[in-house]
Amino acid sequence: MKRRTAEPYKIKSVETLSMLSYDERHESLARAGYNTFLIDSDDVYIDLLTDSGTTAMSDAQWGALMTGDEAYAGSKSWKRLEQAVKDVYGYNYVLPTHQGRGAENILSQLKIKDGDYVPGNMYFTTTRAHQEMNGATFVDIIIDEAHDPSIDLPFKGNVDLKKLQALIDKVGAEKIPYVCLAVTVNLAGGQPVSMRNMKDVYELCQSYSIDVMFDATRCVENAYFIKDREEGYANQTVAAILKEMLSYSDGCTMSGKKDCLVNIGGFLAMNDEDLYIRSRELVVVYEGMPSYGGMSGRDMEAMAIGIREAVDDHYIEHRIAQVRHLGQQLLDAGIPIVKPIGGHAVFLDARAFLPHLSQEEFPAQSLAAALYLDSGVRSMERGIISAGRDIKTGEHNRPNLELVRLTIPRRVYTNNHMDVVVDSILALYEKRDWISGLKMVYEPPTLRFFNARFEPLCETGELIAEKNKAKQIS
Ligand SMILES: Cc1ncc(COP(=O)(O)O)c(C=O)c1O
Repeated sequence: MKRRTAEPYKIKSVETLSMLSYDERHESLARAGYNTFLIDSDDVYIDLLTDSGTTAMSDAQWGALMTGDEAYAGSKSWKRLEQAVKDVYGYNYVLPTHQGRGAENILSQLKIKDGDYVPGNMYFTTTRAHQEMNGATFVDIIIDEAHDPSIDLPFKGNVDLKKLQALIDKVGAEKIPYVCLAVTVNLAGGQPVSMRNMKDVYELCQSYSIDVMFDATRCVENAYFIKDREEGYANQTVAAILKEMLSYSDGCTMSGKKDCLVNIGGFLAMNDEDLYIRSRELVVVYEGMPSYGGMSGRDMEAMAIGIREAVDDHYIEHRIAQVRHLGQQLLDAGIPIVKPIGGHAVFLDARAFLPHLSQEEFPAQSLAAALYLDSGVRSMERGIISAGRDIKTGEHNRPNLELVRLTIPRRVYTNNHMDVVVDSILALYEKRDWISGLKMVYEPPTLRFFNARFEPLCETGELIAEKNKAKQIS
């Protein structure tokens, strides 16, 4: 018999959850323009909108808040954070930023020239926005399989080296300031990159003097997948695997709100001294002194501890197991999800869930809204709305993947909460034909998914109703 494991922590403080009625959720959803980003958190039962900044901190982190050194310059807390990054990640130079996009802004401004190309293993919203705002064209070089939710591969975040080589041949290495390698790949479903692939990408780039900059946001989760799936790593610690991974890069941007186990913060790290000196100038302009970069001393104390806690093998093993606990039950019940189950989230395949809706009817947005209506579980669209519009043609970018992301905050919910989510999805699947599409009634010009507003397309005006089915069939 396989022995069960439990959370590698016990609960010291609790937060009461709100449990609204169906009618109250209906009102809340309409107020929010059917966009789960715009629902008040007070109206949410189980919040799987994001794993970003939603981590429960440990008692050691909470205790360390009191030791925060709030000096404007030369803070002791910064020294502790800087040392933690150097010890655990291994880069030579580190600069603090208020969160990941602060680091992306500085990196993009310094490295990109107008007309450049930035290849990446699938885009991330803020990362690509900064690249484009600085004049670059993003080029997707992820393996084709990553765009197919049904293909089960251990390292679906891998770069297709032929695509990278073809881009170099086409535009020239001098037009490629760096390759942006996300580990794991959020928009592919939290899929990891293999050590072999990281090494190959790095070697190819080195031969052309192109830098490799990691988006290290979920790098510890990637390291665990390497331990679990890649030959030769089963007996290594996640900490050792992480160090090796990052050695195949020239630097990274980091959103501390994920794998640094804190609610706010980030950093930019690199091995090149010249890039460090120039980045430090921009940190002063955009973030604050290089000894706090938009964080308070107490934030930095918490992050210094979180960075070390995240590479504890028991912590990360349980983290991935909890995501699997949710995903495997859905798979077993025949619910279409992205395979294999990723590191931080389970992604519902909305095209397969709601085949009666076209991409213009926003299946993922509709399904995310319907899930909230059914149970108060908040998720997020990752499909055509998140992909935005082509900056040149103004047309919708049309990703193959129309996904609803059920993102699991770190150390926050128990497996019982995951079971409640499963029940709601199974109930929705039963009545999936009754779910209507949406029309966008307000579209912001950038990062539209945050603030866009929608209305049910169906004339009945109801998002989930038996009448909708009749309407769609007629
Ligand atoms: C892969 C990835 N990169 C970068 C970011 C941006 O980080 P932040 O939200 O801290 O600005 C995120 C945030 O969700 C992310 O998931």
